[in-house]
Amino acid sequence: MDYKQYIAQKINVEGVAQEEIASLLAVPPDSAMGDFALPCFRFAKALRKSPVIIAQELAKTIAPDEVVAEVSAVNGYLNFKVNKAGLAADVLARIAREGAKYGSSDEGSGKTVCIDYSSVNIAKPFHIGHLSTTVLGGALYRIFNFLGYRAVGINHLGDYGTQFGKLISAYKRWGNREEVERGGIHAVNALYVRFNEEADEAMEAEAREYFRLIESGDKEANDLFEWFKSLTLAYVEKIYDRLHIRFDSYAGERFYTDKMAPVVAELKEKGLLKESNGAQIVDLEAYGMPPCLILRSDGASLYATRDLAAAIYRKKTYDFYKCLYVVAYQQNLHFKQVFKVLELMGYDWAKDLVHVAYGMVSLEDGAMSTRKGKVVWLEDVISRCVEKARVILEEKNPALENKDAVAETVGVGAVVFGALYNSKIKDITFSYDKALNFDGETSVYVQYTCARAASVLSKAAADGIAFDEAASGTPNAQEAELLKALGDFPATVREAAEKYEPSFVARWCVDTAKLFNKFYFDCKILQAEEDVRAFRLALTKATLTALTNGLGLLGIGVPEKM
Ligand code: ARG
Repeated sequence: MDYKQYIAQKINVEGVAQEEIASLLAVPPDSAMGDFALPCFRFAKALRKSPVIIAQELAKTIAPDEVVAEVSAVNGYLNFKVNKAGLAADVLARIAREGAKYGSSDEGSGKTVCIDYSSVNIAKPFHIGHLSTTVLGGALYRIFNFLGYRAVGINHLGDYGTQFGKLISAYKRWGNREEVERGGIHAVNALYVRFNEEADEAMEAEAREYFRLIESGDKEANDLFEWFKSLTLAYVEKIYDRLHIRFDSYAGERFYTDKMAPVVAELKEKGLLKESNGAQIVDLEAYGMPPCLILRSDGASLYATRDLAAAIYRKKTYDFYKCLYVVAYQQNLHFKQVFKVLELMGYDWAKDLVHVAYGMVSLEDGAMSTRKGKVVWLEDVISRCVEKARVILEEKNPALENKDAVAETVGVGAVVFGALYNSKIKDITFSYDKALNFDGETSVYVQYTCARAASVLSKAAADGIAFDEAASGTPNAQEAELLKALGDFPATVREAAEKYEPSFVARWCVDTAKLFNKFYFDCKILQAEEDVRAFRLALTKATLTALTNGLGLLGIGVPEKM
């Protein structure tokens, strides 16, 4: 049962939807007050009454039942105590029944959500700046699928533009096939960097000419371009594998080459296109924005032109319910402009386009900079974190088997979790030590908690102690807190999807792990009397299942032993 949902349907506030009441219901920090509480401040204005009075009046309208044991009004809060034995039976039975599916639903069935994320640039570094879009997008992809939507992961590759002309020019000048094959993306990137350092007017002109050759279908230029592209993709795919990231489409900017002219024609036909200093623009002054550039004076298309074509193509191809763009907040204006232009074109689905903006990630030990040579490659951050995890594991548990595999799971998890734990819009500073702190608000803390739960369960199995995973009992205070958190997982997943905030799931994992550890240290599990023991083992198993699901949604694995 979803307790918030259940309680919400017992509360009637004029003009307020049940959904909103459910989302306002909170778990008070002090459970002596209640298990769930509804703050009534929000309703004061609409009802023209004080929150205190509203809470009192509402309390009178709600009759306790087998789920809700007690209702009271305290200082503008409507407090609920639930029947603890019922809560326990309910939550444990559901987790036992649903297992790896616990927290999922089919509420999104029939709806498609396109998620444009990671969207790397061909031949350019895959750097720490791409971490958030990659793991946020990956988490949203899994969360939407878990809720029954069809998620379509799209890598809108940056594979269009004059930089490819530069690259070809540089390769022809200084490159050599074996060297580039061997060096892969790093060699390709080095050529590009060198071009930018050394280029003069003549070289720039040559680069423009090579770009024109790519555009006009010249075989040699296109072969070279495809080669650079395949080297880049082979490289990033290895990193995606480590991060458990996948895409359904790699239709990048270049894919829209032949799809832009119809959009430009449509803009013209709808009277939206204006000439300005030889360029074609859509004037957005009335909306307080600079104009959206559609064609440069030389007729070349722009980033925005390709995004317009891409949005229209995606709507046609996937008929999305929502189309998310997981892109840094630096591009706020770009997406506002693109969405506005689509709206002006008369597409009512423009309202379903969402820019999921996020903040910057920098490294504690070396500010991130895209200036030449100072780039922090994401691969290096991951590898370094895995190495550090390996050292810590060696120290903490020298006898651990599969240390390399565990270090990979722990190290990768730490990088991913580091980017997902805070609300996405915040700028964050990544610190290896903090990310790998076993006692911090970290993935390794959650993983360690899982390993602890798994070890209790395997000890029980080794001792031949059988238990019913849906065993019921009357929970004490620690157990009740833990059960409430476990029961709140499905709602947490739903809210994470609604707000595009995987951090809700990350926080839930840490909070739940803390509650489990409190339970673990305060209550004997294996030494308890038989029926209490069975109940506690069931609770331990349920915690392991729910935490595994939670970390799984973030793309983080759970080692059996640590
Ligand atoms: N490649 C772009 C960049 O690195 C991000 C693309 C985001 N997606 C989009 N549809 N514009 O800035």
